[in-house]
Amino acid sequence: MKDIKAVVFDAYGTLLDVHSVIEKLDTVFPEKGTQISQIWRTKQLEYTWLMSLMGRYDNFFNTTRRALIYALKALKLDFNADLCETILNEYYVLKPFSEVPAALENMQDKKIAILSNGNLEMLNTVVKNAKLDKLIPNILSVDELKIFKPFLGVYQLAPAKLGIPREQTLFVSSNSFDVVGGKVFGFKVAWANRAGNQLDELDVKPDIEVKDLKQLADLIKS
Ligand code: 2OP
Repeated sequence: MKDIKAVVFDAYGTLLDVHSVIEKLDTVFPEKGTQISQIWRTKQLEYTWLMSLMGRYDNFFNTTRRALIYALKALKLDFNADLCETILNEYYVLKPFSEVPAALENMQDKKIAILSNGNLEMLNTVVKNAKLDKLIPNILSVDELKIFKPFLGVYQLAPAKLGIPREQTLFVSSNSFDVVGGKVFGFKVAWANRAGNQLDELDVKPDIEVKDLKQLADLIKS
């Protein structure tokens, strides 16, 4: 860990809890929030992979809207465009996981960045609303390349913008596909596996697995 000069975070699912939308969903569709949120997140990621494979692109905010519409229709729920936007706007106020602010405070001696599928407008807004903007001075978005993770070229944004070699960069994600992508690219990789998920069978393992970012911050300091 001692030669790590930069720590680069995935955003959605790693720093920010995408399922913090459930509370709002439950006010609109009582007791359906969890089910909607699971289909929504699964489809959101599926669409990023499908579009990237077909060489098509729409930004992550629009892709997140498409996935939400799919989820509401799949559950045969009644909604209109205004309600869809109201729910979608929850992506601007996603909650950070509870240990995130203190963990980031403890890593400020490293160069800190987000590298995310999110487009810059949605990332800057949600990071500011989560009061993480002072702790994360660098926000890098795949939108610059018009293709989503785990396309290897998107991970190159980190060394290119931060000026730190990939070998001295710790990439942190909770999403198995992103852990694999970052490792194949050549980062040192930490899997923040809060949910005790199973790693994908893709012949690639993270350098370390932690249960949350407090454990990671302690490891980096040691
Ligand atoms: C990201 O923030 C999709 O969680 C992934 O890039």
